[in-house]
Amino acid sequence: MKSNVTETSQQPLASMDEWEDFLKVRYPEPAPAPAGGTRRAPPVGVAADKKKEEFRQYEAEARPSVREFYRLNHTHQTYDFVQAKRKEYLGLNRMQMSVWEAMEYLNQLIDDSDPDTDLSQLQHLLQTAEAMRRDGQPRWMILTGLVHDLGKILCLWGEPQWAVVGDTFATGCAFSPKNVFPEFFAANPDANNPRFQTPNGVYEEGCGLDKVALSWGHDEYIYNVCKDYLPEEGLYMLRYHSFYPWHREGAYDQFATAKDRAMKEWVLKFNTYDLYTKSHEAPDVAKLRPYYEDLIREFFPAKVRW
Ligand SMILES: [Fe+2]
Ligand SMILES: [Fe+2]
Repeated sequence: MKSNVTETSQQPLASMDEWEDFLKVRYPEPAPAPAGGTRRAPPVGVAADKKKEEFRQYEAEARPSVREFYRLNHTHQTYDFVQAKRKEYLGLNRMQMSVWEAMEYLNQLIDDSDPDTDLSQLQHLLQTAEAMRRDGQPRWMILTGLVHDLGKILCLWGEPQWAVVGDTFATGCAFSPKNVFPEFFAANPDANNPRFQTPNGVYEEGCGLDKVALSWGHDEYIYNVCKDYLPEEGLYMLRYHSFYPWHREGAYDQFATAKDRAMKEWVLKFNTYDLYTKSHEAPDVAKLRPYYEDLIREFFPAKVRW
């Protein structure tokens, strides 16, 4: 990836793609299709124990950089940290720019990944959206695909990788063992706070996922940027696309409402495009731009608050 802004040094991942590459190994099967969908369901008859064993194996074989990334993420994402970041960013008082400008802004992010095999951030967004477009998905969903990772601009404002990406998890309640590398939570200060260490913690059962403070990152941020402009299904995709412990493992489901559970189908549908449509073929940005500028205009104002 090219340009003039580098990620803060001393970050464990050479590229944020390393985290996503790990996810693909950890969750090798595409998410099951929603009712009436055509996607392949996970194999039946796979014993839960075996699955657990396999996951442990993936973790054991993970690159040291990925392990270190999760160690930092699980150590530092506390309930108070999340509240502080929400306060810091969700007033959306930093910048005003169009969606396309935000895509170009994000694209300044460069890292040490291999330029021959990795796509730029902008190319990943276009590739996700194009895969949806090819499948005849609704326009709002294609647009959701286009914007879904724009929250990674947090990196350009000095946030470390562990506060931008990573599978999100609930803070303010007991850490679920269904998270990857659960052993790293032992170093999280919240592990010593009894208020946060009951199954429901500071929440009530069935309170709704929107009441739960998920670990801070690019999902919650982009959800807030877009919340006045996209339909609810798209907003669920944005807000929970990294919430793998919930949408792939069923963790924290005691907080979900019936609506959250119904909307999960959209999150899973989104996930198949985000994670499994990556190819090394770079989309033609100049050729695609007019189509996407039109699509952006249909839903967003000329300038959006970031
Ligand atoms: Fe993402
Ligand atoms: Fe993505």
